[in-house]
Amino acid sequence: MNAPKGNIITRRNFLKLTLAGVGTSAVGLYLFCEEGGAVNYSDPAYLYWNKFTQGSLNLENYLILCGSLAPSAHNTQPWKFSIKEKEISVFADSNRSLGSADAEHRLIQMSVGCALENIRVAANQLGYRADISLTPNAEYEKTGMCAKVSLVSEDQPQGNPLFDSIFKRQTTRSPYLAEPTPEIIKSSMMGLNDFSNISLRWFDDSADLAAMAEINDAACVAFTKDDSAYLDSLKWWRYSREEILKKRDGISIFTSAAPSAIKQYFQYGVSPEDMAGDFGRQGEIDLMKNLFAATPLWGVITASDVSNASRLQSGQLFERIFLDATRQNYRMQAINYVSEQQEYANKFKEQFRIPKTDELLMVFRMGKAELCEKSVRLPLSDIIV
Ligand SMILES: Cc1cc2nc3c(=O)[nH]c(=O)nc-3n(C[C@H](O)[C@H](O)[C@H](O)COP(=O)(O)O)c2cc1C
Repeated sequence: MNAPKGNIITRRNFLKLTLAGVGTSAVGLYLFCEEGGAVNYSDPAYLYWNKFTQGSLNLENYLILCGSLAPSAHNTQPWKFSIKEKEISVFADSNRSLGSADAEHRLIQMSVGCALENIRVAANQLGYRADISLTPNAEYEKTGMCAKVSLVSEDQPQGNPLFDSIFKRQTTRSPYLAEPTPEIIKSSMMGLNDFSNISLRWFDDSADLAAMAEINDAACVAFTKDDSAYLDSLKWWRYSREEILKKRDGISIFTSAAPSAIKQYFQYGVSPEDMAGDFGRQGEIDLMKNLFAATPLWGVITASDVSNASRLQSGQLFERIFLDATRQNYRMQAINYVSEQQEYANKFKEQFRIPKTDELLMVFRMGKAELCEKSVRLPLSDIIV
């Protein structure tokens, strides 16, 4: 049974504590936190993170498992897969969308692109080349099919140095250390120029960092004021650990850097009405403001056209960077308030010297921080059709 509201922390102090909770001053809080409510990594919802080898799974199933560990908007996992021998067809699952927060399905397609990249990397590791054919727009719109992956056995398998990162990668919603990211981290990343229509830009000088924080803050405020987008995305908010383990999707306080006291407060004291109201909206604004200010490096991915192929490839590129950053012990977080609001996307392009006709696809922060808690995943039986 749920404990009464406000049993751990008074509501008045909540926002202050949330902010403290993701900063270093949270240390004191841990001292009087109860131990209870910790993540149970032996639950089936977390087991794929430990499947470092194929084991008894067939090749295609194992590659799909690796694909499913990719990031996706609000952990919607908006993908489905079908299998023929040495061939995987990858579909967008529009039933698992963010609704009006992703009206054009940009986020779905990029999420699927992230899964494709994991499949490619894992295929390499197992001695296969993944030949990816991307579906033309008209067919994608008719069938939801995004891509087909043909697995070709390599004569001289090289493995893939990004493979281990598939299991270690996570979205880290923490303040990042203020230290500049060494140039070598970016310049040593692999395969960043493989996609002809996709551009990647980095921003780390102090004027750009301040401008990034400012426009992302403003876009976050606007997002929380947009009832339909905010409330649609809230459908993927998970309130308790029980709900997370049951649904195996969505986002929650538990994967953030908030201390246990805050997590327990959410577990027992925060209702859907709270999240739909000022409490949830102002909490999101304050938390994000804190994170944006603690970001030493931003990355931006754009495409020179609007197509299924470019959105998938942007997702692939984002995940490739994510895996490589993980390999080099850097953390990342996608931040999509700007790209999902046309007015802010236009302002952003102007401000950051991006051609007007490009589609703004992904904005992300990168830096150093401790790892947080892992997110959950759906079972293979739910995503293989
Ligand atoms: C296309 C896309 C957009 C995302 N947008 C955001 C975002 O705006 N803010 C955020 O905190 N995380 C964002 N994420 C991260 C997801 O919430 C995260 O991947 C998901 O919850 C699963 O967690 P994991 O990455 O730790 O496995 C995004 C991820 C993708 C692929």
